[in-house]
Amino acid sequence: MEDTLQKNWAPTSWLEKPVKQLPAYPNQKELEDSFKTLQKLPPLVTSWEIEALKNKLAQVSAGKSFLLQAGDCAESFSLTNSPKIVNTVKVLLQTSFILIHELGVPVVRLGRIAGQYAKPRSKDFEEVDGEMIHNYRGDLINGFEPNKEARTPDPQRLIEGYHKAALTLNFVRALADEGFADLHHPEQWELDFMKNNEYYKEYEAMVESITKAVKFVDAISPDRFSSFQKVDIYTSHEALNLYYDSAQTRKVPRKTDFYNLSSHMVWLGNRTRELDGAHVEYLKGIANPIGIKVGPPYTIDDTLKLIEELNPTHEAGKIVLITRFGKSVIEDELPGLIQAVRREGFPVVWSSDPMHGNTFSSSNNYKTRNFDHILQEIKSAFAIHRAEGSYLGSVHLELTGDNVTECVGGAKGLNEDGLDHNYETFCDPRLNYEQSLEMAFLVAKEWKQSYS
Ligand code: PEP
Ligand code: CO
Repeated sequence: MEDTLQKNWAPTSWLEKPVKQLPAYPNQKELEDSFKTLQKLPPLVTSWEIEALKNKLAQVSAGKSFLLQAGDCAESFSLTNSPKIVNTVKVLLQTSFILIHELGVPVVRLGRIAGQYAKPRSKDFEEVDGEMIHNYRGDLINGFEPNKEARTPDPQRLIEGYHKAALTLNFVRALADEGFADLHHPEQWELDFMKNNEYYKEYEAMVESITKAVKFVDAISPDRFSSFQKVDIYTSHEALNLYYDSAQTRKVPRKTDFYNLSSHMVWLGNRTRELDGAHVEYLKGIANPIGIKVGPPYTIDDTLKLIEELNPTHEAGKIVLITRFGKSVIEDELPGLIQAVRREGFPVVWSSDPMHGNTFSSSNNYKTRNFDHILQEIKSAFAIHRAEGSYLGSVHLELTGDNVTECVGGAKGLNEDGLDHNYETFCDPRLNYEQSLEMAFLVAKEWKQSYS
C-alpha cells in the first residue's frame, strides 16, 4: 500500500468522519474499556489466510473459478450451537459441491459467518407500547427483545461477539478439517424433494449425476471427501460496527499492511458507502479483500471512485463488486456499470446478490422473498454479463441449512400461508436447506449456459 496515500490513516481514523448506522453508546468509558480489551485478544484469522483468499479471488476475477458467498442475514449469539453450525457448514459444502461438479472449476467458499452480528436498519427507533426505543441492530450492538433496556447499545456485546465468532470459527475449522462425515453418504444429500416439482425433468440428469459421483467417490476412496474439504471455508461479515472491526485491525510481523484479523473478508454495505464517510475511511486502510454492495440509490461515477479509493493499486482479488439491484432494475443498470468498470480497467470479481433488491411484505405481513424473483435476478445477471463479454464469477446468497419457511416458492412450493410455520430469521428472509440446493443447481445451469 502506498505510504503517501495512507499517511494519515490509522485503524481508528474513521472516528474523525461522519458515521452512519452506528448508534451512540451511552457510556463512553465502557466503550473504551471494551475496545481496549478487544484490541488485546488473539486474532481470529491470520494474514496468510487472508492473502490466500485474495489470491483465490484473483483467480475468480480472471474467470478461472467461482466464489460462493452465503450464510445468514444476521447471526445471533443465542444460536451459537452445534446443530446450527453443522447445518450451515453442511449446506455451504453441499451447494459448493453441486457447483464444483456442474461447473468443473474450483469454488471458493465464503460464509457470512463467525462475525455477521451487526445490521443496518432503515430507522433508528421504533415505537413499542407508546415508547420510542432503539431499533434492533444485531446482537453485536443490542438485544432483540423489544424493550428499552435490551435495545440500549451495550459495548460489552463487542467482546461477546468476539467470543461467539471464535467459538463458531473453531467448530467450522474442526468440521472442515475432520472431513464432514455426513457428506459422503448419498442418502444425506436429501435431493429427493426435487422429484416432486414441475421442473424435475430439468434437474433429473444433474441430480442423478451428483448422486452417482458421491456414491462413486465414497466407494473408491472414502477419505477423498475429507481431503477435498480440508481446503477452505473462509469467513466474511459486513464491516458495520467499526469499533469491532478496528479493534481487531493490526499490523503483523514482517508485513507493512494492516489486516482486519476478525475475518478473512469484510464488505461495505449499500447504506454506508459514502466516499467521505467513516466506513470507507476504515476500509481503505486494510489489506483484506473487500466486498462492495451496489444497488439503488447509486451512481456509476461514485461507484468508480469508490473502487479506486479502496483499491488504488488495482490489485486483482481485492474487490468483490456485489450488485443487488432487484429483478426489475438490473436490466437498466448493470450493463452500464459493467462497461464503466471495464473502461477503468478495474479487475473486480463480479458477484450477484439476488436477495436484497427483492424483499417484500407478504399479505400476512411477513418480510419475505420469492424464489422465482431471486432466480430472475440471477438469470438476468448471467445474461447481461454474457452479453457484455464479462465474467459473473460469484453469487451472494442469504441461506440457512435449517428447514425454515421464510422465502416463498421453490420446488416444495411454499406459499404465503406457510410462512408462519417456521419463520425464524432475526433480519432478512433466507433460503432454506432445500431451496438452497435447488438454487445451486439453477445457478450452475445459468453459469454453464454462459461460460461452458
Ligand atoms: C446484507 O447483506 O444483509 C445487507 C444489509 O445488504 P445491503 O447492504 O446490500 O442492503
Ligand atoms: Co440481509
